[in-house]
Amino acid sequence: MEAILNIENLVKVYGNVPNQTKALNGITFQVMPGEFLGIMGSSGSGKSTLLNCIATVIQPSGGSIVMGGKDLTSLNGKSLANYRGKNIGYLFQNFELLDNLTGSENILLPTSLHNVSEKESRLRLKQLAEYLEITDVLDKFPMQMSGGQRQRVATARALILHPKMILADEPTGALDSKNAKNVMEKLSGLNRDDKATILMVTHDSNAASFCKRILFIQDGIIFHELRRGDESQREFYERILKVMAQLGGGSYNVL
Ligand SMILES: Nc1ncnc2c1ncn2[C@@H]1O[C@H](COP(=O)(O)OP(=O)(O)O)[C@@H](O)[C@H]1O
Ligand SMILES: [Mg+2]
Repeated sequence: MEAILNIENLVKVYGNVPNQTKALNGITFQVMPGEFLGIMGSSGSGKSTLLNCIATVIQPSGGSIVMGGKDLTSLNGKSLANYRGKNIGYLFQNFELLDNLTGSENILLPTSLHNVSEKESRLRLKQLAEYLEITDVLDKFPMQMSGGQRQRVATARALILHPKMILADEPTGALDSKNAKNVMEKLSGLNRDDKATILMVTHDSNAASFCKRILFIQDGIIFHELRRGDESQREFYERILKVMAQLGGGSYNVL
């Protein structure tokens, strides 16, 4: 099987001499189709920088990011916008929904930007809304929704164009534990039933326990990897906590 994403020796340096920060210091990993991969690390370890490089929001200083045979670091302008739309669905900690649009208008926004037929979009919207249990908030505005509903609307928007991969940056970071669990159940359900490939950054061990594999980063390098084996989610969670405790502080919430 061919990897969806191939990251090799990725380096990102912010700023100029003498005020430089090396946020990524040689990151190498692959994402296979259908994976649910988590990236964990404490605050400042480089998680968002990594995701932003993959999302082509920022340019890495070195290394390569290859997706579908294309090196993203060589794309620009229109080909970049095209790449983002077709390949990546992005989930943000703070949902990033447009307040003056309804749920369905938010979800359908990417389809108008990428010339998808109205009939096809409506069908996809209906299926996603049922799956994500947001049918009753489609006509509401974000302010009228709970945090969990907003993140599920954002999930539908991320998936409306059938992207090759979902990138999620702390998708449960702004949610209470009940809503966080619900959103994670939906994401892992989409991974299981819809074969969605998900790369999620989180510092929340509960959220991470839904992943099948986790890379731990510290100071811009991968220092450990866990794979969920033939074990309960609870057992996997306990193993995650142990690694996170090594990351410093020993607390459950490192951030
Ligand atoms: N735009 C920026 N300019 C300068 N330094 C930055 C910038 N963004 C992040 N950093 C630094 O890079 C490091 C990694 O940050 P980040 O990727 O946001 O970590 P995380 O998401 O794991 O908290 C930190 O030391 C942070 O201060
Ligand atoms: Mg971050």
